[in-house]
Amino acid sequence: MNKTIAIIKGDGIGPEIVTEAMGILDAVAAKFGHTFTYVDAPMGGNAIDKFGVPLPDSSLATCRNADSVLLGAVGGPKWDNQPAANRPERGLLKLREGMGLYTNVRPAKMFSELSAACPLRADIAANGIDFIVVRELIGGVYFGEHRTEEANGEQKATDIMAYSEHEIKRVARVAFETARKRRKRVTSIDKANVLDTSRLWRKTVTEVAKDYPDVELRHMYVDNAAMQLVRDPSQFDVIVTENLFGDILSDEASQITGSIGMIPSSSMGDGTNGLYEPIHGSAPDIAGQDKANPIGTILAAAMMLRYSFDMAAEANAIERAVDKTLRSGFRCGDIMQENCQLVGCKAMGAEIRSRI
Ligand code: IPM
Ligand code: MG
Repeated sequence: MNKTIAIIKGDGIGPEIVTEAMGILDAVAAKFGHTFTYVDAPMGGNAIDKFGVPLPDSSLATCRNADSVLLGAVGGPKWDNQPAANRPERGLLKLREGMGLYTNVRPAKMFSELSAACPLRADIAANGIDFIVVRELIGGVYFGEHRTEEANGEQKATDIMAYSEHEIKRVARVAFETARKRRKRVTSIDKANVLDTSRLWRKTVTEVAKDYPDVELRHMYVDNAAMQLVRDPSQFDVIVTENLFGDILSDEASQITGSIGMIPSSSMGDGTNGLYEPIHGSAPDIAGQDKANPIGTILAAAMMLRYSFDMAAEANAIERAVDKTLRSGFRCGDIMQENCQLVGCKAMGAEIRSRI
């Protein structure tokens, strides 16, 4: 197959980790007889420096026209003083919206080789951590009106959180479909004791659930969910929640696995074109030092093959190569353990490549 992949290297460690992921994709292409063509799409702080905006229209067009998009990470202290409308993060939000990517999937899975890094008590971790956060990505307070004004001699700020039924329905369906391929349990998370958007969320998810009688649905308030995630994460299979709650809970979920540098994510809409990225940030403190862990981005590339290109065998080959590399004892700094061999970003990429 021939596939065109838009590449957003981004800022900080972004270029290093994306380069390693591209090396893995090339190894897969050679082994399975595919051709991957890469097109650069500048976004983030580097795009602000070069074009004055975090996501030039040409980059959005490149991403929309590609078969899929691979992203490293964007942002850094250099651009912290940009006006809100021109921060690197705005580029990411504009890209999600411009590509119609309403579903963000973030797996939280503890790698058995890395269970020592899990910050939870051993008897809690022993029950296993293996769930998926399905986060609504282009609605809610992120995309409502934002306003700061002068009122009664002081400043007043407003952010509007809004949801329509169709926005809830489409992401709920993805959650139920995902659960069908797993342990068939969906936990819908909201704040229905306080928020109207949450009451509509709960009612709509309950309606969608009627089409999935084989999947068990339960509702949970977000404050309780934050607590249950550290008390007993093994109770979760698929979590579905709105944009802001999903942002917060998915960070918590990744942290309890002990391997935030290893977790990929996918963002998709109605088509097969998706955006794939590691969930960690741009880590400017170690940028350019060959210290970053490329595994999150490499596993994001595997997700791309599976979900956007329907290449399951190829995705498995990458995931197996990562497993074997870890079992052989190679570690980057963030996941270093006793009796393991510390390697940099390039060497980790090379080790995984050699096992494809
Ligand atoms: C994430 C990030 C983004 C978000 C930021 C960078 C805008 O935290 O992908 O979770 O809040 O969605
Ligand atoms: Mg976040």
